[in-house]
Amino acid sequence: MGSLNVEPLLSLDALADGAFAETEAVLDGDAESLILYRQGDAVRAWLNVCPHAGRRLDWAPGKFMQSREGWLVCAAHGASFELEGGQCVAGPCRGDALRPVPVEVRDGQVWLAMPAAPASLMHGPRTSG
Ligand code: FES
Repeated sequence: MGSLNVEPLLSLDALADGAFAETEAVLDGDAESLILYRQGDAVRAWLNVCPHAGRRLDWAPGKFMQSREGWLVCAAHGASFELEGGQCVAGPCRGDALRPVPVEVRDGQVWLAMPAAPASLMHGPRTSG
């Protein structure tokens, strides 16, 4: 209970085309930091958790590094991620990927587009004989 995201993550106007932002959202009952990236009228989002060592990718809240190629660069050890699928294309976790978070743009706002069924339903108590 109390884990519904009833407010938008961000106004689309607050995010310039090609820019990143960081915001928090409640996912499965936990507050998580998200990376938001705008491309035209579309916005993509990933957990702000690097698959290399689990650190945040921004060097200060909402401050992300970008390579000359346009890749998102983790501030901790320099892993680089392409911005279509969040795949690590260079650096210490090459071949891994950021965890995508479904978002949608509606009425000029960016919203979580999470399925209604909580993941906790899949982790019920186990019986052992
Ligand atoms: S934690 Fe991101 S590159 Fe090491």
